[in-house]
Order: sequence, then structure tokens, then C-alpha cells
Amino acid sequence: TLRGSFALKARKANRASRYGLQLVASYKVAILGAAGGIGQPLALLIKMSPLVSALNLYDIANVKGVAADLSHCNTPSQVLDFTGASELGDCLKGANVVVIPAGVPRKPGMTRDDLFNINANIVMSLVEAVADNCPDAFIHIISNPVNSTVPIAAEVLKQKGVYNPKKLFGVTTLDVVRANTFVAQKKNLKLIDVDVPVIGGHAGITILPLLSKTKPTVSFTDEEVEQLTVRIQNAGTEVVEAKAGAGSATLSMAYAAARFVESSLRALDGDGDIYECSFVQSDLTDLPFFASRIKLGRNGVEALIPSDLIGLSEYEGKMLEALKPELKASIEKGIAFVQKQP
Ligand code: NAD
Ligand code: LMR
Repeated sequence: TLRGSFALKARKANRASRYGLQLVASYKVAILGAAGGIGQPLALLIKMSPLVSALNLYDIANVKGVAADLSHCNTPSQVLDFTGASELGDCLKGANVVVIPAGVPRKPGMTRDDLFNINANIVMSLVEAVADNCPDAFIHIISNPVNSTVPIAAEVLKQKGVYNPKKLFGVTTLDVVRANTFVAQKKNLKLIDVDVPVIGGHAGITILPLLSKTKPTVSFTDEEVEQLTVRIQNAGTEVVEAKAGAGSATLSMAYAAARFVESSLRALDGDGDIYECSFVQSDLTDLPFFASRIKLGRNGVEALIPSDLIGLSEYEGKMLEALKPELKASIEKGIAFVQKQP
């Protein structure tokens, strides 16, 4: 009966609160660039989260229809639309997590760095608004080139006096998702079990899957390692070419970003066992930002996981040294971009 079901819910809520868990949705997530190729499916996936009570969608175009459409799904969160610079502040106020997929995607023949000139300005202005309106939020940067846009965001936050390195994340989850998929296919493993850490950055050779650290333990021939590594590094380009001018990965990216949002919300909610790879401020190498596995907690990055970098295979060690100059240059380009603003 209905009364019985309410009583059951109340008993569950009581039990949950005794363990410090919340059964009610209570987090606010904002997506900036929500009407885009990534933004729309990402908004749908976040609308399905029981942890979200408010989903604020911001874009410079077409966001009203996306929000109206999504708002009819009978899941807990309230969906609101915001458009134009004058509404950005209201979109961000009170947000716990801000996800930024705003910006232009690649076309065939382009590198991610070719997007720098347009996307650097977009990320800079959006992060300024985050600094002014919700400086305490987790900030997830998806816009490319991630190797530069994350340092740009850090520099903007520093200039505003609100930089918290534990709460700024470059989203590299798609590299892990791809690595897990390709390894499971190659080795005939159950997908659900496979976990490959991916370190470095998010472009070409800066993407370094640590196949020797794959869980469960798998052995690869040298040819398999090289072939899988190159496929994971070029997977973005594989999609850009298949889409033939219509953009880059959007659906798999939305899936990966939704996983990272859900992990962040569970960490905020007190789950003490959340690990993800992300491009963050780091002292694991001599580079100021570096993607590695991290432990997430209520305050963001609780710990970097150094053990993945110990006992690398000879190939991985060589690839790690080879990626550093490119990653360093991309980081410095992002920092310099903000510092030379008038
Ligand atoms: P898209 O063009 O389909 O969507 C981008 C959206 O951003 C559009 O709706 C556009 O109106 C909006 N936008 C542009 N300027 C804005 C601004 N100033 N404020 C708010 N919104 C703004 O592109 P997409 O396919 O969704 O890709 C978005 C970005 O994500 C690209 O830079 C792409 O390279 C990057 N990307 C990153 C990863 C990753 O793994 N980190 C994966 C895929 C794509
Ligand atoms: C990806 O890895 O799919 C994204 O970074 C988009 C791109 O340009 O490849």
C-alpha cells in the first residue's frame, strides 16, 4: 500500500541518516555549453542522477528548448535554462559542480591545440564567472585543449584570489573509458572488470595508458602494447575522422563526463572510496599539472595516487619522458595566455 511504502521509505531514510548517508537528491550541477553536442546528452545523463536536485543549463544559444525538453523527465532534479552573459551569474550561484564543455570541436586535420585561440577565451570568461559566483564548486573542464585550458582556469582563479587546486579538474575520463573498452575487446575480458589508469595529459602522445597496471592483471605482447597505446592516443581523431567535419566525440564524452560528475557527487556525499583519473595540479612529476589517478573526497582531490608511476614498464617509462616536453609547452601556453591579458 501507499502508506506501507512511505513507512518503508522513512525506515530506510532513518537507517541511512544513522550512517551519515543521504537518500534525497541535494546537489546543484551547472553545465556551461549545455546545448552543444556534449552538453545535451550530458544534461540527460545528469538528469537521471538521484543525487542531483537542481540542473542549471547555460549556453549562448538554443538552451531554452533543451531545458524545456529535459524538464519533462520524471526524475528529481529541477531543470532551469540560462542564456547570455547577464544570466550566467544566476546559473552558477550555489552550484556544487560546474561542468564546462563550451567551445568549438575539431574537424579532420586539426589538432586540439588548433582550438586554442577560440576556446582559451571562452574558458577564461566562463571561469571568471565561476570565480565570482561559486568559487567553492568542483570545476570540471572538458573544453579542448585540456592541457592548456586547465592551466588557464587555474590562472584565472588565482588572479581572482579563489584558486583551490583540489577542486579544479581536467576531464580525462574518456581516455580511461576508451582504454578499458579496447583492452577488454582485445583480451576478451568482461568489460565491467577492466580498469586501465591513463596518465599524462589529453592530446596525442601526452595520453599515456599504463597497460602494465591494468586490473585484472593481463599480459600483453610488445606489439599489443604499442598497438593499444597508439589506438587509445588516437581515439579522438578516429571519431573526428568518422564524423567527417560534423565534430568530435560527443556521446562517449557525455557518458565519461557523467561518470566523473557522479563520482564527484558521491565524494561530496561522503563516499570514502572514489578513485578517478583526472588532469590536476600535481607534484607527481616535474610538471605543474599532470593526469593520474586521484582519490576524491568532500573537499575535492584528497590524494594523488603515486603508486601507478612506480614500476612502469620500459616502454611506459620511455613514453612518459617523451610526453613531458609537449605537455610542459601546452601548460605554459595556457598560463602565458592569461598572464598577458591587458
Ligand atoms: P559543440 O560545438 O557541439 O558544442 C559547444 C557548445 O558550446 C555550443 O552549444 C555553443 O553554443 C557553446 N558555447 C560556445 N561558446 C560559449 C560560451 N562563451 N558560453 C557558453 N556556451 C558556449 O561542441 P562539442 O562537441 O560539445 O565539444 C565541446 C568541446 O569539448 C570542444 O572543445 C571539444 O574539443 C571538447 N571535447 C573534449 C573532450 C575531452 O575528453 N575532454 C572530449 C570531446 C570533446
Ligand atoms: C576526444 O578525445 O575525443 C576529444 O578530445 C575531442 C577531440 O578533439 O578528439
